[in-house]
Amino acid sequence: MSQCHICHEQIRPFISFGHQPLANAFREKSDSREEYFYEMQVMFCESCKMVQLAKQPDEKKMFHEEYAFYSGTSKRMGDHFSSLAKEFKDNELNDLSDGLLEIGCNDGILLKNFVLEKYRHLGVEPSANVAYVAREKGVQVVESFFNLDTAQKIKKEHGTFKVLFSANVMNHIIYMDDVIEGMNLLLSDGGILVLEDPYLGDIIEKTAYDQFYDEHIYLYSLTSMAHLYGRHGFQLFDVQPQITHGGSMRYYFCREGDRAVHERVSSWMQKEEDLGLYNPTTYDKFRSRCEKSKIDFVNLLTKLKQEGHSIAGYAATAKSTTVTNYCGITSDLISVMYDSTPIKQGRVNPGTHIPVLSDQNFKKDRPDYTVLFAYNHSAEIFEKEAWYKESGGKWIVYVPEVKILS
Ligand code: SAH
Ligand code: TMP
Ligand code: ZN
Repeated sequence: MSQCHICHEQIRPFISFGHQPLANAFREKSDSREEYFYEMQVMFCESCKMVQLAKQPDEKKMFHEEYAFYSGTSKRMGDHFSSLAKEFKDNELNDLSDGLLEIGCNDGILLKNFVLEKYRHLGVEPSANVAYVAREKGVQVVESFFNLDTAQKIKKEHGTFKVLFSANVMNHIIYMDDVIEGMNLLLSDGGILVLEDPYLGDIIEKTAYDQFYDEHIYLYSLTSMAHLYGRHGFQLFDVQPQITHGGSMRYYFCREGDRAVHERVSSWMQKEEDLGLYNPTTYDKFRSRCEKSKIDFVNLLTKLKQEGHSIAGYAATAKSTTVTNYCGITSDLISVMYDSTPIKQGRVNPGTHIPVLSDQNFKKDRPDYTVLFAYNHSAEIFEKEAWYKESGGKWIVYVPEVKILS
């Protein structure tokens, strides 16, 4: 048994993904230091409806000066955040001094849009290397983990903010009560919290089990979100589904009673009920589909390899760490992974040690089959690498099911 990190109920994990390394800990091939592994189990709390990892490695192990994920590597993610910046400017930030705070601003992919016009803004980012890139773009950054203590320091120096935003970060932090108290302290009267994260509904519907990795401690639904923030006096007043990261949800919170609640909130909650997100049997079925996906994937790769084909992976994503380690896929099956992130290139992937090369090598090598690990960026990648299919190369995907794309 384990304890729910939110409401401390005793709960039993519904699946184990075995021993997993840190998803973004790409290593030098020659590194002889012992690699960190932990057992990655996932559980569902019937009481607060939170789907969560049973354990999370220490945050300093995951977020540091060599953090391997740079938000700016995807052009479409850049477009996604530019259009959100426009929404904030049009609807919420009427005055340049209103203030926008972003938690986990990474390389400044969103905040860079506020620099030129001199909007009052601040990013909080603990990973020094990506914070450095944000500062290079003129973004103001506090290099720190966001928590109540950091919030108190920020308040003294910068006051409050009309909009608090965070994308793909709230799912990374275990001590959410502390974080929400910090946000409460920093939110101006009448201000809003806007949060977006991978959406549990999409994960369950698409059997996207690769959304589980060390950094993703929580996989949110409207219900678990509303419950968690409700405990701190916040009201979920609107939601907007997003196509990013294979299916995400954007949540809009205000202080209770500040704004009218859009009918989308109740209709999405109904959809969650219909999908069975609050029913433990949903997670038992999910486990069976994960087990089947693993067998299908290994069988397909093994068969192709026995037929003499070459197989590579495209994008050494954090998600691919879960998949390769859960399925036990090493360089015997996937000989190499191509990725555009310089810090990953020339290294090996965590746990299974598949070599990672620059995406420049993809065309030179022209593997017969390529597993698309960044299926959430498929539109961008298929456009960029259109030559691959035209030259007879075949893409393999594993979400929502294992298949060779025709
Ligand atoms: N917001 C960006 C980056 C998401 S990656 C995007 O959507 O693309 C997650 C980021 O959260 C990393 O840059 C990591 O360093 C940061 N992070 C992790 N824990 C944090 C914390 N406690 N406070 C602030 N940022 C945190
Ligand atoms: P993500 O799925 O967590 O956003 O990670 C995306 C990874 O994919 C990151 O390592 C960069 C890589 N990538 C490429 O190699 N080529 C591309 O065209 C894109 C969009 C991403
Ligand atoms: Zn709970």
